[in-house]
Amino acid sequence: GKVAVVMGGTSSEREVSLMSGTGVLAALQSKGVDAHKFDPAEKPLQALKDEGYDRAFLILHGPFGEDGTVQGALEVLGVPYTGPGVMGSAIGMDKLRTKLIWKAMGLPIPDFELIDEQTDFAAVEKKLGLPLFVKPASEGSSVGVIKVKQPGELAAAFAEARKYDRLVLAEQFVGGGEYTASVLGQRVLPFVKIEPATEFYDYQAKYFRDDTVYRCPCGLSAEQEARISRDVLTAFNVIGCKGWSRVDFLMDEAGQHYLLEVNTAPGMTSHSLFPISARQVGISYEDLVVDILATTLE
Ligand code: DAL
Ligand code: MG
Repeated sequence: GKVAVVMGGTSSEREVSLMSGTGVLAALQSKGVDAHKFDPAEKPLQALKDEGYDRAFLILHGPFGEDGTVQGALEVLGVPYTGPGVMGSAIGMDKLRTKLIWKAMGLPIPDFELIDEQTDFAAVEKKLGLPLFVKPASEGSSVGVIKVKQPGELAAAFAEARKYDRLVLAEQFVGGGEYTASVLGQRVLPFVKIEPATEFYDYQAKYFRDDTVYRCPCGLSAEQEARISRDVLTAFNVIGCKGWSRVDFLMDEAGQHYLLEVNTAPGMTSHSLFPISARQVGISYEDLVVDILATTLE
C-alpha cells in the first residue's frame, strides 16, 4: 500500500524531523515501498485519507507530532501508524509525568524538582547540588536545556527554559556517562555511549558537530547491559510505548544507572543513535526502517 512519511510539523524540532524524514523516505523507497513525504505543516492530516494512504510512518519530533495529538487524529481517521499510541506518546513527550510514573514503578531516576516563579532557587541548588540541569518538561533535542554550574544561576536558567514550557524541571547531575537504549518491538538493541566534545550533548552536538563520539559496544559489562535492559523494557512498557522508542539514561561513577527520558519518535538523521544500535546487530538503516514500518501491523 501507499505509505506517508509524516515529517516536518510545527515544533522547535521541525528541522531535525525533516532530516530524519528525508532519510526514512529514501530508505523506504530504496526498498520498493510506495512512500511519499507528508508534512502536516503544509496540509491537514485529513489529506492522508483523501490521498489514499494506507499507513503512516510518523517521524515528527516534539509537540504536535510526538505527543499524542497526531496519533489521536490518525486513530480517528483510521490510518495505522508507527510508534506508541495516544497515551504513550503524550506521556513520553512530558518529562515530568514520565519521571513520576517511573519513580512510582521503582525505576531509578535522577533526583529532580519542579520549579516555578515561587521557587527558592538557592534551596534547590543546595538540595540537588551543582552542576544541575534545567529542562522544559515537553521539548526534545535538548531545546531549552541549560546546565547550571555556578551558585545563583538557577533563576536565570529557569526564566530561559520557561520560554519553552509552562512546566520546568531542575534535575540532579549524574556524571558517569550518557547512554541510550533503542527498543524495537520488545527487543532492546545494544546501548550507545555518547561522548560529546561540548559541555553536554546539546542541539549542536546532536546534529551538526562531527566531534561527538558514539561508542557501540558501549563498554558496560554484559551483566550490566542485561540488568539495565530489564529496566529499559519496563520503562518502555509502563509509559505505554509500542513499536519503537529510545530510552536515554545516565550512569554514575559507582555503576548505577538513572533513566532520563523516552523518545517515542527517535531521531533518524545521519547522526542519530537508533541506527547506530541497529547496525551493531547487523540491521542496516534501510532494514531498520522497514522493520519499524512493520510494527504498524502489530
Ligand atoms: N528528540 C530527538 C529527535 C531524539 O531523541 O532523537
Ligand atoms: Mg527527547
